[in-house]
Amino acid sequence: MSPTSLLIDRIGELTTNDETLAAGGRLRDAAVVVEHDRIVWVGPAERAPATDERFDAAGRALLPGWVDSHTHLVFAGDRTAEFEARMAGEAYAAGGINVTVEATRAATDAALDANLRRLVGEARRGGTTTIETKTGYGLTVADELRAARIAGAHADAVTFLGAHVVPAGSDPAAYLDLVTGEMLDAVAPHVSAVDVFCERGAFDAAGTARVLAAAQARGLATRVHGNQLGHGPGVQLAVAHGSLSVDHVGFLDDTDIAALADSWSPRRGGSAPRGTVATVLPACDLSTRMPLAPARALLDAGVEVAIASNGNPGTSYTSSMAFCVATAVLQMGLTVQEAVRAATLGGAIALAMDEDGWTDPRGLAQPAVGRIRVGARADLHLLDAPSITHLAYRPGMPLTAAVWRAGGRVA
Ligand code: NIG
Repeated sequence: MSPTSLLIDRIGELTTNDETLAAGGRLRDAAVVVEHDRIVWVGPAERAPATDERFDAAGRALLPGWVDSHTHLVFAGDRTAEFEARMAGEAYAAGGINVTVEATRAATDAALDANLRRLVGEARRGGTTTIETKTGYGLTVADELRAARIAGAHADAVTFLGAHVVPAGSDPAAYLDLVTGEMLDAVAPHVSAVDVFCERGAFDAAGTARVLAAAQARGLATRVHGNQLGHGPGVQLAVAHGSLSVDHVGFLDDTDIAALADSWSPRRGGSAPRGTVATVLPACDLSTRMPLAPARALLDAGVEVAIASNGNPGTSYTSSMAFCVATAVLQMGLTVQEAVRAATLGGAIALAMDEDGWTDPRGLAQPAVGRIRVGARADLHLLDAPSITHLAYRPGMPLTAAVWRAGGRVA
């Protein structure tokens, strides 16, 4: 082993998300060896090789770091009053986005950067080792470009969400031309995907299809915010365009679930199809008092499901993936294993980071995330608990004991 090798041993329960290591992907009395940024050995503790350093997990549970595949963290301002009004009975309306747009445009680069750094730091201390974040609170060419650059300094993936809402005072048709033309061209070199909010009050089916086609024409992956506030065409459009994910998915009918399931059918893509991930956002559903997304039905139908925080100042001001996992178990009917997989490997699949070679915003090729297996990035989350079951059994408790990201201790 090189001088930088680290053995984490006496792991009471190891969740790997790797079925080739053990049935269910879980090992007892295990050890993991890390060299530089990667995992180089996984197996029973008694067979672990000698290393330079050793960390005693003391019987606690180790799992992959959370992969938070949906956040909106480049923003300024505060929407406490809107939240209070909602808790007093007002419905969430997408119009609140323009309040954050105004505050974000008025903020300095340094203020936006500092706020994003603070929020990503909070997420890391909670066990998140991979985080996507979106633009979408600038909505001018200069402000969206600025948001993408600032996001790229802190996040693992940056998504362009110029098609969040039509900004106050803009003509909808002219804004759609801008967001699919000049704005997209300016931001494209700084992002890996394009997102669009397909909803009443945001973009309709035709507008959504235009945004997705414009992204595809530039070789960018796509995502859709769909079926959040009511039933709509978002899911079907996402599947039809081969989007990596459709997020929110609170209002689905049987044809939506069938379309998502079909996108994962081996018939479509050979032995390893890549369909459209359904990303559920439990903290957002609660904070907007919307029905919880039907994650159980999606899994039962064979859909790949991700759980993400949707951290943003309007609908979900949290980055706690542990809270989202607990909610998915306690309220959405997932097992703890299903919820943990969705919040780690599910997010990695939604971001196309589950295989080696994805490129980070700095242009560096990265190892796969979302699994604990040889060759994967050493993104590890140690719980102050003997089992991942405690994430739901002890909801709200500070269970993160240690976090390693790319082999380095970050919490
Ligand atoms: O994912 N749905 C659209 N965008 C965000 C909300 C952003 C906001 O209200 O500021 C979401 O919930």
